[in-house]
Amino acid sequence: MPLVVAIDGPSAAGKGTLARRLAAELGLAHLDTGLLYRATAALALAERAAPDDALLEAAARRLAGPDLLRAGLRSEHVGRWASRAAALPGVRAALLAFQRRFAAEPPEGRAGAVLDGRDIGTVICPDAPVKLYVVASDEARARRRHEELQSRGEPANYAAVLQDLRDRDRRDSERAAAPLKPAEDAVVLDTTDLDVEQAFQEALRIVRERLSANPKA
Ligand code: DC
Repeated sequence: MPLVVAIDGPSAAGKGTLARRLAAELGLAHLDTGLLYRATAALALAERAAPDDALLEAAARRLAGPDLLRAGLRSEHVGRWASRAAALPGVRAALLAFQRRFAAEPPEGRAGAVLDGRDIGTVICPDAPVKLYVVASDEARARRRHEELQSRGEPANYAAVLQDLRDRDRRDSERAAAPLKPAEDAVVLDTTDLDVEQAFQEALRIVRERLSANPKA
């Protein structure tokens, strides 16, 4: 069985950067599963400015590789619609097989994969030997998201970013379908007071500790 490292947590907690760096360090493939929900939303938005549930579900079913390369997937607008799409069981079901296949048969013959998202440790790969749940204070996450938007030249207002992040967290955590929550066997990593390098070193330490403690891995 390929090694799976599951990384979950709320938006802007630093999961993406961590997942990418861990994958590079360990020679594993990486899948940003949020991108699947964003691409689904973008595909539906390309057809209608305010897509309904049926259109979002249809978009998830016909999602293909090139859709993940579409421009603008990281925008706040697409993110808001992705969060809506992510609450629909039909969308989640349509995206499940792709994620499981990526974990079971990582591309380029890699020995395993790092998947980051909201439900990797709880739903997509519940048997993953290493699970991290990355958190940070609302303010730290809003600050990071705000800086990221500014660096991309997107208009950004700190108070609006903070509010938007809280709304999205609430929707992701309170939805009935695969809500955002730590798996029972996840290690919680709080990055509030850590810079990118410190968070990475700490995550690497946790992963190595888990791997040496887990003969399955
Ligand atoms: O991490 P992100 O901001 O790119 O995620 C976009 C949306 O998709 C976010 O509202 C949460 C949702 N999502 C999810 O429900 N399950 C995942 N595994 C990944 C993302």
